[in-house]
Amino acid sequence: MYNKPQYPQYLEAFWTQQAQDVLGPRSLTALREHVWALSTQFTAERPEHFSNYHRSAWTLLAYGLYFFPQSWVRLRYPLQELFEFRGWQPKLSGSAQGLKILDLGAGLGATGLSALAYLSGRGYAHVQLHAVDHSAQALEALEKLHRACYDTFWPGSQLKIYRESMLRVGPEHPRLGKESFDLIILGFSLNESHAQAEFDDKLFFLKHLTQLLSPSGILLILEPALKETSEALQRLSAELIQKSNLFSWGPYLHQGPCPLLSKGDVWTHEVRTWRIPQKLQQLGTPLFKVLHELKFSFSALGKRGAPALSEMGHTLRLVAPPYETKSVYLLKGVAQDGQIHSYELQRRDAPRARMAFLKHLERGDFVHIPVFKTLPGHEHFRLQAPEDIILLTP
Ligand SMILES: C[S@@+](CC[C@H](N)C(=O)[O-])C[C@H]1O[C@@H](n2cnc3c(N)ncnc32)[C@H](O)[C@@H]1O
Repeated sequence: MYNKPQYPQYLEAFWTQQAQDVLGPRSLTALREHVWALSTQFTAERPEHFSNYHRSAWTLLAYGLYFFPQSWVRLRYPLQELFEFRGWQPKLSGSAQGLKILDLGAGLGATGLSALAYLSGRGYAHVQLHAVDHSAQALEALEKLHRACYDTFWPGSQLKIYRESMLRVGPEHPRLGKESFDLIILGFSLNESHAQAEFDDKLFFLKHLTQLLSPSGILLILEPALKETSEALQRLSAELIQKSNLFSWGPYLHQGPCPLLSKGDVWTHEVRTWRIPQKLQQLGTPLFKVLHELKFSFSALGKRGAPALSEMGHTLRLVAPPYETKSVYLLKGVAQDGQIHSYELQRRDAPRARMAFLKHLERGDFVHIPVFKTLPGHEHFRLQAPEDIILLTP
């Protein structure tokens, strides 16, 4: 099991300083209305065309203090999962060049820089980050942050920025077309760049992008946890796996479609608790009820398959929070066979400390169930003891 990702204090300090430089003596809370406007745009409003919301300095700061930390930490969940649970080992794509990341719709750099910091922290030297966005203001802020934290987070790294539409990126792109990337990230940008696009257009775009992947590279797409965006992502991934010789590296262990797609009222997404950065709390408290949960959906695809996990017992990704009554504890997840399984444990006689621990399992965790009894229906199982639920991821 690995650690839950945290948002570094150093970055909070950077964005606080940027805000102070612009706001002067005014309180940070002056940014609240911009946080609200952006949040409405990302969720309820969902315009046909997203404007360059980084053009206004105040909106950019609202993003930096409120949305940037969330993207930074969200990206870490699937990235850590790939390295520390799925056994992903990106090979060096060019002997002397080190790893290469392409971040499309990079914005202020929350996803690309988070990946860069993680890889640098794992000992990869000379990592290159290629950041594409159509907002000049966003890329300028990204460059500033990369410079400011160079020694702390990504020593020896290189940043290349491209101010243009990400729709142009593919094998024919004059500068990026010849590159081979170990990690291509679409961090909450696909739903904006393709807000009105048909399924086939998105598929065509993603297929093209995968031609820029190195043989062991991964395309990592994060999207908002809304039903519409999460399901669209799972449908696209299923099609890419079926028709484009790509392999799924997440969110599931199997290669077929997400089984929740046929359920209608529930859909796959992660819900992660985190330590809320202080400034985010200050900005969000009167506006939003739930700040302690990070929600998102993701898909990770590669040209090669992931190493197989042990076939002993069941390993599953939780697709619902644990459900408890006075007498029963219930878990629901998608196992290696691609089916939704549920596991029931009688709480009677179970040690309290263990039950308290199990209560905090989260949607998106992987657990291993070594022994179980099959109940009628083949997708329903009974557990003998709470020790038969082994948490594998944070
Ligand atoms: C929600 S932000 C995400 C930024 C960053 N990846 C993150 O997670 O914080 C979406 C970004 O995509 C960019 N974007 C949207 N459509 C684009 C397009 N067609 N070409 C380039 N950038 C685009 C926006 O400017 C914005 O910076």
